[in-house]
Amino acid sequence: MKINHIKQKEHLEPEFIRRSLGASIFTRNMIYHHRLDSTNRLANDLASQGAQEGTLVLTEEQSAGRGRLGRSWFSSGYSNLLFSLLLRPQMQADRVFILTMILALAASDGAEEICKVKPLIKWPNDLYVGRKKLAGILSEVSTKVKAVEYVVLGIGLNVNWKPGNQEGLLYPATSLFNETGRMISRNELLIAILKKFEGYYGDIISGEIAPYYERWNELSAIIGRTIEIDAAKEKIRGKAVRINQDGALVVEDQKGQEQTILSGDVSVKF
Ligand code: BTN
Repeated sequence: MKINHIKQKEHLEPEFIRRSLGASIFTRNMIYHHRLDSTNRLANDLASQGAQEGTLVLTEEQSAGRGRLGRSWFSSGYSNLLFSLLLRPQMQADRVFILTMILALAASDGAEEICKVKPLIKWPNDLYVGRKKLAGILSEVSTKVKAVEYVVLGIGLNVNWKPGNQEGLLYPATSLFNETGRMISRNELLIAILKKFEGYYGDIISGEIAPYYERWNELSAIIGRTIEIDAAKEKIRGKAVRINQDGALVVEDQKGQEQTILSGDVSVKF
């Protein structure tokens, strides 16, 4: 196999990204570092110092990537997408999951457009291809009374990573390279995701939410499946029925009763 060294070492190109996005909120304050501890950490710090909506923090590698539930996020350098978006939507804090939902949709749609892979969404905010995790989203919110002051949405998406030894990973993982057998342009993929996200965000802000719920349920990897959830106090086993208007997962438990789960770690029973 001929190895294309240029493509393998493709760097993110902030200028190319900026030009391709044109008039976008994400070109207002685009911050690129070769290496950071965590894009979410930096985006949160900038937000607390008053950075504007649309601030985009991009990096090639992280030394202390943050995952959900206090976990770490590991990614090989210069091969994946690692970025955080700062938003200042006028919305109640309990609606923020909608933003996570549209970032998951944008990432799935972007992957489909650029490399014809259609990842599914594993509630609440992971992307999966088959049984393997492709991406994870970490949303961090700062509130004033019950309203959102700002939200940082961070995503780690495995693009050109070549999965080898997966020891130490909590879940089996994959990448777009692994799914397609070819190197994917991270620049093109990032541009596609950001364009889609901005369109969806505009709709959400103007109140057009229903179609996104529908798409979210359609793309859900777990609806109709038997699942086990590690919720706050207990383990619940049952059938995933739907994701409701609050972003909560509705599960039919083993007694045939519906339970609404607001957060937790889901495993699918195959
Ligand atoms: C998860 O699945 O647990 C969520 C992982 C989120 C990782 C991304 S990588 C870019 C951004 N910066 C971080 O420190 N975390 C998020």
